[in-house]
Amino acid sequence: MILLPPSFGKTSDLFNLKNNCGVPAQQNAWRIRKSFEFPLQFRKIDRALSGNNQITLCRMAYLEITQLDKHYDHFQALKGIELAVKKEEFIVFVGPSGCGKTTLLRTISGLETPTAGKINLDGQDITYVHPSKRNVAMVFQNYALFPHLNVFENIAFGLRLHRLSRQEIEQRVQRAARLLHLESLLTRKPKQLSGGQRQRVAIGRAIVKQPKLFLFDEPLSNLDAKLRVRMRVELLNLHYETRNTAVYVTHDQVEAMTMADRIVILNDGRIEQVGTPSELYERPTNKFVAGFIGSPQMNFLELTIDGQKENGLACTAQGLGKLILPTQTKEAIEGKKVTLGIRPEHVKLAPGGTNLRLPAVVNIVENLGSENCLHTEIAENQLLVAKTPGGPAPERNHRLELFLPAEHLYLFDDQDKAIPVTPIA
Ligand SMILES: Nc1ncnc2c1ncn2[C@@H]1O[C@H](COP(=O)(O)OP(=O)(O)OP(=O)(O)O)[C@@H](O)[C@H]1O
Ligand SMILES: [Mg+2]
Repeated sequence: MILLPPSFGKTSDLFNLKNNCGVPAQQNAWRIRKSFEFPLQFRKIDRALSGNNQITLCRMAYLEITQLDKHYDHFQALKGIELAVKKEEFIVFVGPSGCGKTTLLRTISGLETPTAGKINLDGQDITYVHPSKRNVAMVFQNYALFPHLNVFENIAFGLRLHRLSRQEIEQRVQRAARLLHLESLLTRKPKQLSGGQRQRVAIGRAIVKQPKLFLFDEPLSNLDAKLRVRMRVELLNLHYETRNTAVYVTHDQVEAMTMADRIVILNDGRIEQVGTPSELYERPTNKFVAGFIGSPQMNFLELTIDGQKENGLACTAQGLGKLILPTQTKEAIEGKKVTLGIRPEHVKLAPGGTNLRLPAVVNIVENLGSENCLHTEIAENQLLVAKTPGGPAPERNHRLELFLPAEHLYLFDDQDKAIPVTPIA
C-alpha cells in the first residue's frame, strides 16, 4: 500500500508512480480509497487529487468481489458479499446447506449472473464476461466424464474445443497426468477407473486449461472417508506445486480447517467471518462461527449478568443458580442476557489455574480410542460436553466436577456477537 501526499499532482503522476514501482503489466489494477480503480477511471482520480486530499493507493486483490447480491425472483441467495483473495491463496467456503456456497462459486465462474455487485479477476472486471472467456476452471461434485473417451481424451477435450495445437495438447495433458499420477491410466475408459481416479481426471481437465482461478465445488464428497483424506493431501500438494489460486467449497469443516489458507464462513447468503483456521477457532466474531468451527461443537450456556465483581462476572443461570465467571469485560453488560461458550476440549476434569467449577452427572460416554467424549448434565436439560484424553473414563450416572478454565471462556451478547473478555488470573 502506498500513501500519496496531498501535493500529489495528476493522473500522469500516477502513471509515473506505477512505472517506478515496477508493477507488472498484468497486475496494473490499483484501488484508490476503495472507490476508484486505476487506470480505468482517470477522471474520478483527477477529481480526488485536485481536492488536495491525501489518498491511499493500493494494489487490488487478485480476486475481488464487491457488494455482490444474487436474487432468484423474491429469494435472495447472496447478500452483500465482499471478499478479496490474494494470488496463490487457497480459500475455502463453508457453511450449512443452502447458505449460498455453490451460488457464489457459480457467480464467480459466470454460470450465474449477479443481481448487483462486481467481480474483478487479476485486474479485469469479469462480472458480465462470458464463462468461457473468464479463464477460470470449475470442478463439480458430480464430475461428468465422457464414457466413450479415454482418460487422455477426457482431459484434452476442452483444449481441442479451443483448437490448441496437437503438440501443445500433448504437453499439457502429459504434465497434468504426471501431477495427478494418471500416466499409466491415460488409455483407460472412465468405467475402468476407481472413484478417486475419476475425480483426478476431472481435476486434470481443469488443470490443462491453465486457468487464473480454480473453483472446486465439494469435489471429494462422493469419495469414501479414506480416499477423501488421500485426495485432500494430493490436492494440497498440487496446489503447492502449481501455485494456483483456488476457491474450494466443502461441507466438511475438517477439510476446511486442514486445507485453507483462509476460510470464509457463509450463513444465509451472508459472510459471517473470513479468517485463517486458527483465527476462526480462537477468535470467532459471533456465536454462529463459534458453533460452526470445532467438533464436537462449542458448549453454550444462557446466563444473565448481575454485575462485575472483583473476582469476576456475577451471573445467574437457569437451573444452576448464582455463578461467578472468572473473567472480565470492558463492555457494560450488567443486567444483560448473554451466552457463555466453552469448547469441549477445554473442559477439564481436574482443577488447574483459575476456573469455573460446575458439578455434573455423566450421561453418555463416547470412547473414541484416542479421546473420550463425555456428555454430562449440569442441570435439568442443561448438557455440557467434555472431550478428555483416551483411557479409562467415568461411567454413566457418575457424579463429577467439571472445570472451565478462565482463559477459554467466551461470551456472546443477545445479538450473538462476541463480547471481548479477559480472564482473571
Ligand atoms: N436456480 C435457483 N432458483 C431458485 N433458488 C435457487 C436456485 N439455485 C439455488 N437456489 C437457492 O439458493 C440457496 C443457496 O443455494 P446453494 O446451492 O448456493 O447452497 P449451498 O450452500 O451450495 O448448499 P449445499 O451445501 O446444500 O450444496 C438455496 O436456498 C437454494 O434453494
Ligand atoms: Mg452446494
